[in-house]
Amino acid sequence: MVSIASSSPVEWRRSISSTNYLISSSSDLVSTSFINDAFADKSMPWAYPFTEAEIEVMKNNCVILGVYLTHESNDETASQRGPRFEQVGMARLITDRLTMFYITDVFIAPSERGKGLGRWMADCIREIMDGMPHLKRAMLMATPESGEDPYNSHSVRFYRDRMGMEPFEQGRGVVAMGRSAKWWEARENDEERQ
Ligand SMILES: CC(C)(COP(=O)(O)OP(=O)(O)OC[C@H]1O[C@@H](n2cnc3c(N)ncnc32)[C@H](O)[C@@H]1OP(=O)(O)O)[C@@H](O)C(=O)NCCC(=O)NCCS
Repeated sequence: MVSIASSSPVEWRRSISSTNYLISSSSDLVSTSFINDAFADKSMPWAYPFTEAEIEVMKNNCVILGVYLTHESNDETASQRGPRFEQVGMARLITDRLTMFYITDVFIAPSERGKGLGRWMADCIREIMDGMPHLKRAMLMATPESGEDPYNSHSVRFYRDRMGMEPFEQGRGVVAMGRSAKWWEARENDEERQ
């Protein structure tokens, strides 16, 4: 059973087609440039890059699960011995490590997609949730492709099958609510229309 109750990192290793990969929650391994490249990628239209100081705030206040290619160095003269880690994927887990868990910014670098890394990362996230005995609610916002049935999209099926996430249903005693940062702009537009 994995646990993120303390700040000690949790990790998983796997070899795919003779390439070694690591999934780790260690903030020491996170690459600011990878995160900003991911946030600038067109496949994450909801995100945008931040300054190094802002990324530092993010790193200090959420769990960044990273997917890394591990390169073993055989070079005796290399100044840095031991494995080198190259970040190729991420998910941000916004959590108090005890009761609440919000998953966002799930991303695998385009060159690494289709190898099972996304499914593996989702399985690791499920293991983390399973290791939280006091978890009350895990949430995420799925982003269907345009034209997809939102309730039966690739992303909804992915999160349902791998993590047991379900769309909120009306009339079940719980109302999911949210707002965007610029909610007042929508309100002003509504008032103008009235
Ligand atoms: C979604 C993503 C993380 C999948 O990573 P991956 O390493 O290519 O995934 P895998 O090789 O494990 O397999 C592809 C799986 O992704 C699923 N998937 C999840 N969300 C998807 C999406 N938005 N579009 C297409 N496929 C998606 C597919 O259904 C497939 O699962 P299946 O084989 O069980 O049907 C990757 O495509 C990505 O980074 N996309 C851009 C960012 C994004 O859309 N994030 C998710 C937002 S909800």
